[in-house]
Amino acid sequence: MENTVVIGAQWGDEGKAKITDLLAQNADIIIRYQGGCNAGHTVVNDGKTFKFHLIPSGILYKNKICFIGAGTVICPEVLNEEIENLKKNNIDLSGLKISPLAFVTMPYHIDIDGCSEDTAKGAAKIGTTKRGIGPTYTDKISRHGIKVQDLFDIDGLSKKLDNILPLKNKELTLIYGLKAYSKDYIMDLCAKYAQILKPYVCFEWQKIFHKAIEQKQSILFEGAQGVMLDVDWGTYPYVTSSNPVAGGACTGSGFGPNVIKEIIGVSKAYITRVGEGPFATELNDETGDKIRNIGHEFGTTTGRPRRTGWFDAVVAKYGVLVSGLTSMAVTKLDVFDTFDEIKVCYAYKDKRSGEIFDYYPTNTNIHEFLEPLYETHAGWKTDISNIKAYDELPQNAKKYLQRLEELMGVKISIISVGPDRHQTIFR
Ligand code: GDP
Ligand code: IMO
Ligand code: MG
Repeated sequence: MENTVVIGAQWGDEGKAKITDLLAQNADIIIRYQGGCNAGHTVVNDGKTFKFHLIPSGILYKNKICFIGAGTVICPEVLNEEIENLKKNNIDLSGLKISPLAFVTMPYHIDIDGCSEDTAKGAAKIGTTKRGIGPTYTDKISRHGIKVQDLFDIDGLSKKLDNILPLKNKELTLIYGLKAYSKDYIMDLCAKYAQILKPYVCFEWQKIFHKAIEQKQSILFEGAQGVMLDVDWGTYPYVTSSNPVAGGACTGSGFGPNVIKEIIGVSKAYITRVGEGPFATELNDETGDKIRNIGHEFGTTTGRPRRTGWFDAVVAKYGVLVSGLTSMAVTKLDVFDTFDEIKVCYAYKDKRSGEIFDYYPTNTNIHEFLEPLYETHAGWKTDISNIKAYDELPQNAKKYLQRLEELMGVKISIISVGPDRHQTIFR
């Protein structure tokens, strides 16, 4: 397999994990490059469901290196739960490795995320997963972060905390009215975290990466979230705090852009979003409920009902551009099996001026004035969940996919017609 990046091309939950798991079969190294336990990645293998937050979705295969990369933020407690759950299911974890350069989510990050979400009013509410993701990345950028490698250098950690903890405690108590943490408590906690992570932390990652390049091993880069949640390219401020776009695969892994050959975007045949922020094609009606119910659109991490809407080709085309997608995987096509009609948004119209946008307007302040323009496609009214070949798809399903290709400007290389591995059509 050519070295490939798998990224979400919408607002997350597109089915990236299913696609990553499938492609991982032919990969030597699978590396998760950004995000943290805000991600909820579902893999269904022979009817058995696995949910991952941090562990790469290639872990179900033996003899693969599954790397949690430098661009991620790690909550050791959540990771420990994932590890224990996999052990219970007799999954081999000998290939699991953690970058010493990844950042650790501390309890104060979770406190701050929860409190700022709970107290935010109106437009200030982001609808985060309250997993401490934003505050962990904030500390990384402001150079107050704790890296995984710091947990193994007690003296260094102690000195760092002497600088960081008084600042954090001021923030916790004076801004948020929360409890401060003692240094002893945090040092003890870090010792516990070190114990959890120790079997997996990979200080010799450079050797492994050199070998991968020299021996032309196959590397699969797994993104979390999606293009529209990217901190630079998404619907800011209603985004996550990292770079899910393909560029993030380099900064978050330690491999350069020259090793990447394929970039597969993953899109649902419709679109969903959890949390706040603009969503032009959102359906607050019976059709939206129907998509939610048939597609089981409830968050993997938080259980929140996902907002649902028609496929937005303007969003998809934007993703093709900013992530340089070489092809798209379209998932959940089966969810439309009973639909009479399916709509696709091909452009937006500004209700004030009549201006038409066939590219994504990045100023989210104007989105309340935008109206999606739709074309309507006839449904196929057939169960497609067991179809294995593109040619066997009903004519109307093929027409729908062909139209999406035209609008997005990229080929559809994979079509997913159900959650299980075998419910997949490769072209
Ligand atoms: P991710 O975060 O992008 O990996 O996606 P999630 O795991 O959060 O959400 C995708 C959900 O859709 C999971 O429950 C998958 O099992 C399920 N799924 C993936 N592909 C398909 C598909 O083609 N059809 C149906 N019906 N479900 C799918
Ligand atoms: P996967 O990898 C869908 C959303 C949250 C919120 C915003 C910021 O499973 O696709 P954060 O906790 O990251 O600060 O929240 O981002 N969000 C996701 N939405 N799928 C995800 O991950 C998400 N991770 C974060 O709902 O709107
Ligand atoms: Mg998810």
